[in-house]
Amino acid sequence: MKRIVLATQNKNKLIEMQAIFKHFDIQIINPPSDFDPIEDGKTFFDNSLIKAKAASRLMGLPALADDSGLQIEALGGAPGVHSARWAQTNAERIQKAIDSLKGQDNRNAQFVCCMTLTDSKGELLYTSEGICKGIILKEQKGTNGFGYDPIFFIPELGKTMAELNLDEKNKISHRSIALKQMIEFLNSQRENL
Ligand code: IMP
Repeated sequence: MKRIVLATQNKNKLIEMQAIFKHFDIQIINPPSDFDPIEDGKTFFDNSLIKAKAASRLMGLPALADDSGLQIEALGGAPGVHSARWAQTNAERIQKAIDSLKGQDNRNAQFVCCMTLTDSKGELLYTSEGICKGIILKEQKGTNGFGYDPIFFIPELGKTMAELNLDEKNKISHRSIALKQMIEFLNSQRENL
């Protein structure tokens, strides 16, 4: 079985990604608990490459990292790469999104995820991107998921991301779209990893 380091400490992401990976013959290795590279890139791709490179070099294995966030159209794409640190607590970040859109008709937003795979030496092998489009609600609905899920409404489903269970979220999420492309690449490259 192939071994790949999943370069994240975010338990929610690990759970989502392990649920997707369980269908494949790939063993996921976690980095040490103090793994925390500085994510100072300007784009989701920059940050995912920083994390994947750091994990590959530390563990001597291929590494997969994702960087993701929320982009709100009326705010010029903010919070973007700053999604995790836009305000101190998750509750404050959600409130900031709601407050920033007060009186605003354009409530369009998207979750973006960039996945990047590096080889055991830290060289870029492949990168993929997934986008999930929605609308920012004026109040929270649902308790599943994490981050901005309770205010991210998906018109096609008539539900917020936080009203979906894990399987439902994994059918449409930015992370699962990016990961599916990545898995196709991994399957095509099995012998070379
Ligand atoms: P990262 O860990 O640097 O990729 O930061 C991602 C941040 O974007 C998270 O901490 C959340 O605030 C937000 N985010 C990314 N993906 C999701 C999602 O699936 N649901 C809700 N919020 C998300």
